[in-house]
Amino acid sequence: MLTDGCGRNITYLRVSLTDKCNLRCKYCVPPEGVKMLAHEDILTHEELLRVIRILVSLGVTKVRFTGGEPLVRKGAMDLIRNVSLIEGAPSLCLTTNGVMLEQFLPDLLEARVRDINISLDTLSDAVYETITGKDELSLVLKSVDACYEAGVNLKINAVPLKGINETELPDLAALARDRRIDVRFIELMPIGCAACCEGIPNDEVRRSLDCAYGPSVNAGSSIGPAAYVTYEGFKGRVGFISPMSHAFCSECNRIRLTCDGVLKLCLASPACLDLKILLRTGASDEDIARAVRDALLKKPEGHGLKFTDDRNMIGIGG
Ligand code: 5AD
Ligand code: SF4
Repeated sequence: MLTDGCGRNITYLRVSLTDKCNLRCKYCVPPEGVKMLAHEDILTHEELLRVIRILVSLGVTKVRFTGGEPLVRKGAMDLIRNVSLIEGAPSLCLTTNGVMLEQFLPDLLEARVRDINISLDTLSDAVYETITGKDELSLVLKSVDACYEAGVNLKINAVPLKGINETELPDLAALARDRRIDVRFIELMPIGCAACCEGIPNDEVRRSLDCAYGPSVNAGSSIGPAAYVTYEGFKGRVGFISPMSHAFCSECNRIRLTCDGVLKLCLASPACLDLKILLRTGASDEDIARAVRDALLKKPEGHGLKFTDDRNMIGIGG
């Protein structure tokens, strides 16, 4: 069991496989681009696999692959397959922008990845291009269909943005009317270049949905930071992840591994443990396990709604 200094059990590991992405979302990548990590600074498959194996042996039960866009990493699928074979069989999840998802879906299903979150902020081609800089919406929608047909546990994550996708929020929520999926609205967090956009507080999003679909009914909170509701005639649920208006740090069970081998203890803070140095200077599994346990004692109690890490989101993976 991994426990932090506040007594929280840490069971959930988010692994960023790459800092590269095939999109350029305004709030994630600054207009001048980001300096990509050098190839040798990125953990190799063997190193990633080793860290994940150690963390699973310590008590991590769920591993989510993120990026950048995880599927653009060369050999991402081999790595995911190897993680699925780790003793202790953690449950495997993926967060993707969905552009390349359809082609990988059969392999992902074979590797027992049953939980997939697709980031999708709009259903309009023009707005998609405004937000992401690319014209790939149709591929994402095909991936959504393919996941749904394959029975994947599917969540759509959308970031409400003032003056950009603001009028479309009821349409996005309607994806959960026609299908049994979760559509979740994530409040924009002021991380890196996100300052270029203005987010919309979830209370406001909820009011606009209530206006469109009638009063919402509580649909229970699953484990995690989202509060779920549903509306009459909806097959699925609408979730609200509100890091800005309602901190949920007291229930935090997660840590993050960046693709350059930094174990981040909290999304909002620079508190971290550099595992790459340990991996590359001959540390044993026991040394690494000890360093992780010690570092966890320093996991911040909460972000107090202040974000003090100046990395851009593309280097962290959400
Ligand atoms: N605030 C909130 N969500 C963000 N994402 C990326 N940057 C931010 C931010 N600053 C979201 C993406 C994706 C997930 C991985 O994180 O839209 O859904
Ligand atoms: Fe890529 Fe996701 Fe960042 Fe968009 S938010 S640029 S899809 S990593």
